[in-house]
Amino acid sequence: HHEPLVLGIETSCDETGVGIVRGTTLLANTIASSMAEHARFGGVVPEVAARAHLEEIVPVINQAVATAGIRLADVDAVAVTSGPGLAGALMVGVGAAKALALALDTPIYAVNHLVGHVGADLLDTTGSGGPLEYPTIALLVSGGHTSLLLVRDLVSDVELLGETIDDAAGEAFDKVARVLGLPYPGGPEIDRAAADGDPRAIRFPRGLSLPKDMAKHRYDFSFSGLKTAVARWVEQRADAGEPVPVADVAASFREAVVDVLLTKAVAACRDYGVPRLLLGGGVVANARLRAVAIERTDAAGIALRIPPLSLCTDNGAMIAALGAQLVMAGHAPSTLSFGADSTLPV
Ligand code: KG4
Ligand code: ZN
Repeated sequence: HHEPLVLGIETSCDETGVGIVRGTTLLANTIASSMAEHARFGGVVPEVAARAHLEEIVPVINQAVATAGIRLADVDAVAVTSGPGLAGALMVGVGAAKALALALDTPIYAVNHLVGHVGADLLDTTGSGGPLEYPTIALLVSGGHTSLLLVRDLVSDVELLGETIDDAAGEAFDKVARVLGLPYPGGPEIDRAAADGDPRAIRFPRGLSLPKDMAKHRYDFSFSGLKTAVARWVEQRADAGEPVPVADVAASFREAVVDVLLTKAVAACRDYGVPRLLLGGGVVANARLRAVAIERTDAAGIALRIPPLSLCTDNGAMIAALGAQLVMAGHAPSTLSFGADSTLPV
């Protein structure tokens, strides 16, 4: 049978991503990022992100089409992230996708960004990910989200088990980096600084740790208390006129984040009897997160799946992959009147 050629558009945050897949085969994954424009603000500025998407979307579509070696007219369906994310940023991608679907006279599929992250694992690649197997627990950690999903079927059965009740994990890295005087984005900076530090130097709090929160927040996360604890610790040091041991603070903070993420992810695997854990999101770049994920899943007999980083960070290919699944499952396309929903549930 004929595998659908799908073009996917992702503009939920600061990455303008266009991907092209044929079924589960990756043909192009083109990205333009406005990250550098946000650096001086210490975080993504929605208005700046939306304007950047508007400037980049057509060049990125053209680049993806050229890379894939296809003709736009051959595209069978368009998929686009309709949420969750920054409203203005989403609208640029949704508008572009609608225009494309209208012009090409193809069906269009509005998809969920978080489910898209899981779809990344479907693509034929050389990483330790893919092809996706069911059921799986997915831990998605980025600057915008921290979510734990139970995926029984990508197109019909994805359950949100828990998410952050305040800051996203990557956001916590960015804020703590600022406290330590490190530049934005802070995740890679802290990761680097932590390499020379002692993760047991300072015992920082594990927010919503499992034993105290068995029921309501069992799979939820909280990182704002941790961020405040680090800020207070650093402040007290400075007030006492003592130097701040940046490497030890970075390593101890990183350990606290990684510990709580993987404790909950592995607990979810155990509780639901699911022997597979998939990681996604930009924080997957974290060296300690990867190392501890390998250790703990090995110990628990859980198969760990980590797609290549280019498919873990926000991208259009994962949206295209999910779109192709919807086409192949015979799912009805969206009507052209759908909007952007910044809080779209899974
Ligand atoms: O997925 P992503 O590229 O964009 C979204 O946030 O959607 O993730 C970026 C986030 C930033 O918060 C960044 O600080 C964090 O991922 N990050 C890291 C590392 N590399 C990037 N956090 C911890 N350790 C890293 N090595
Ligand atoms: Zn994302």
